[in-house]
Amino acid sequence: MTRLASRLREAVAAAFAAEGVPDDLVKVTPSDRPDLADFQSNAALVAARALKANPRELATRVTERLAGDPALERVEVAGPGFINLTASPAALAARATEIATESMRGASTVAAPRRVVIDFAGPNVAKPMHVGHLRSSIIGESLKRLFRFRGDMVWGDAHFGDWGFQMGLLIVACTDEGLATAFMAEDDGPFPDASPVTLEDLERLYPAAAARAKAEPEFRDRARKATAELQAGRPGYRALWAHFVAVSRTALEREFSALGVTFDLWNGESDADPLIPDMVAELKARGLAELDQGAWIIRVAEEGDRRELPPLLLVSSEGSAMYGTTDLATILQRRREQDFELALYCVDQRQADHFEQVFRAACKAGYAAADQLEHIANGTMNGADGKPFKTRAGGVLKLHDLISQATDKARERLREAELGGDLPPGEFEDIARKVAVAALKFADLSNNRTTSYVFDLDRFTSFEGKTGPYLLYQAVRIKSLLRRAAAEGATPGDIRIAAPAERDLALTLDAFAQAVEDAYERRGPHLIAEHAFRLAQAFSKFYAACPVMAAPDAETRASRLALSRAALDQLETALDLLGIATPERM
Ligand code: ARG
Repeated sequence: MTRLASRLREAVAAAFAAEGVPDDLVKVTPSDRPDLADFQSNAALVAARALKANPRELATRVTERLAGDPALERVEVAGPGFINLTASPAALAARATEIATESMRGASTVAAPRRVVIDFAGPNVAKPMHVGHLRSSIIGESLKRLFRFRGDMVWGDAHFGDWGFQMGLLIVACTDEGLATAFMAEDDGPFPDASPVTLEDLERLYPAAAARAKAEPEFRDRARKATAELQAGRPGYRALWAHFVAVSRTALEREFSALGVTFDLWNGESDADPLIPDMVAELKARGLAELDQGAWIIRVAEEGDRRELPPLLLVSSEGSAMYGTTDLATILQRRREQDFELALYCVDQRQADHFEQVFRAACKAGYAAADQLEHIANGTMNGADGKPFKTRAGGVLKLHDLISQATDKARERLREAELGGDLPPGEFEDIARKVAVAALKFADLSNNRTTSYVFDLDRFTSFEGKTGPYLLYQAVRIKSLLRRAAAEGATPGDIRIAAPAERDLALTLDAFAQAVEDAYERRGPHLIAEHAFRLAQAFSKFYAACPVMAAPDAETRASRLALSRAALDQLETALDLLGIATPERM
């Protein structure tokens, strides 16, 4: 696995070494002027300063030393001492061949794999999944795949919101509607195995109860009491709660799976609850938790903070554990169960303070090191008004409805483009769903994750421009070319690089490794999205300029088929890292 930049850096560094320049001063990067060269090095400028030499003269001596290198077609000095490097067709062909045969498609694994927990989506019992959960789900799924691809041991955890006040609200709401009668006994049961509520019940009961709790103190107090009794372990409430959790989770898993999002763990906030009493006792005993107006807090403000970060609320004055308490206990739980080295929290940037509090408290307590906990913040998907997206009626859009809207649009788009019409209805449906998911996910992931973007289904589903459907279409086009070739008995062969579009395609294939590494380091799937788009464009230009089946000779045809195959494999890999599946045909 030697990417071109590394291969050329070695050669350039050796030439500089012969001129007395230390290796660590020599860098080779993709050219700022791709019209002039493939790569460039400004090492002569850097080294000349250190050696008090003339940069242009140093650069000239280095280029003379590089002159016979078979990896270089051209090497030139430009301006005050830049070195411009153009790879040779042989080097490009060798690299493309490597990429074509590797399972990593040119990318590399990490030197030291880590144990990584990715906390994403964070759906809640009874509250329907809405677009607010969309970005975290899409970004988290992509990071999960990216980290795993590079060889880390990864657990994606849904961190199910199944605890706290909303459960008390539901219990009381069910009680008032007479749905919970069989669960009211205060003894150990047994209690019914069948759920007394459906998903529709939960979706109706929860918002009504939440609203009622705001207006009626008496109702709110009963819900608080029910929450406390549930948390204290009242068997009937526990049994009822287990039904809420199961009903919600089944529905949520169905929706996530329609979006191509899966989890290795469905740990709930409730799973961290048993760790809380000991944790709180220990934090008190060590003096880390302080009593403040009846509540227990952990101070997390640090010198040099630009604004004051409020303390983490550990135990409220009413004696209950809070959101931050659960997250702190979850860190302990993950320490025990996954022994994580890195935990990524893919959550809306509006929760930034919360995570800062939790992470600082965790560090203070010695539960994790500061560099092991990261909030992977995301912006929102906005409506045309620039505010977080709402439906026309002003409500939050449910994920389920979003996917079906996108699928309707995808069907329409496919028909407009006269695609898939001749395929069996089942396959057409499958394609429409894939196009819809690609549209939503690519629109999201092509943005820097912290940037908010405007929801525009018309644009997302277009087969033209920087969209998911465009990428799928390019992938499918290569698949159909390869099928045609196979039918005609034409097979891929040795890669040769001659035409400019072949050069560009090979250089683009080579750039995948860097995109993957940068995306990994910066937790930025948009860099993979960007690469996928560039690759699709490079292929499209290649396909227009370099006939494959009608190539001038059999060797050229075999080479172009091999390049096409490599482009497809890398494009599908990149799309897969974004969580996007490609249909076989359209
Ligand atoms: N359930 C939470 C919410 O909807 C998100 C959970 C995020 N993860 C975490 N570890 N706190 O706001």
